[in-house]
Amino acid sequence: MTESNNQLKRIGILISGRGSNMVALADAVRAGEIANAEIAIVISDQPEAAGLKHAQDRGLATLVVERSGRSRLEHDREIVAVLQHHRVDLVCLAGYMRLISPSFVETFRNRILNIHPSLLPSFPGLEAQQQALSHGVKWTGCTVHFVDETLDGGPIIAQCVVPVLEADSGETLAARILAEEHRLYPRAVELVLNGNYELNGRRLVVR
Ligand code: GRF
Repeated sequence: MTESNNQLKRIGILISGRGSNMVALADAVRAGEIANAEIAIVISDQPEAAGLKHAQDRGLATLVVERSGRSRLEHDREIVAVLQHHRVDLVCLAGYMRLISPSFVETFRNRILNIHPSLLPSFPGLEAQQQALSHGVKWTGCTVHFVDETLDGGPIIAQCVVPVLEADSGETLAARILAEEHRLYPRAVELVLNGNYELNGRRLVVR
């Protein structure tokens, strides 16, 4: 590792499945759209996650850390140890389908990001796109937020608005939102790594 590499901010990404947001982040780092950063490790709790191969194809280090009948706390302790071993500065949840424990949140306070496919605080939790469709909203979108002890409830970093069209199914709406997720997440990561913001209570203000 060269001296300049030592100054790169190290990102750890947690996935459970497809990994398209992980790919968007990795490609943005490689393209220099997220400056002075590198992906240190991609961790999946699912051995069959398709995203693992996408990460390996990009030359990224990957690791499977299964829950394996352990408590959430024990599972998270192992993940935190792996992240610390890889000297991770910022943790990005990218389709990671588990709640994380308060001690994990505390260890990386304001250094864990998540992307959610709705305009939070509307439609937290699972199947946010279908929730939006069923509710009848005309606009939805995606949100990148800090992870705290609440479900999809931490301070909002960035959002993007997406229209709901008359002909939409859950799938077509999810695809339209996903395309925006892939643009929004790298921008939010770049902002946080830059440190060019203040958190006033819940409110993130860009300097
Ligand atoms: C995305 O819609 C993301 O917003 C949500 O889970 C999905 C993950 O997709 N948290 P992918 O694994 O990044 O393709």
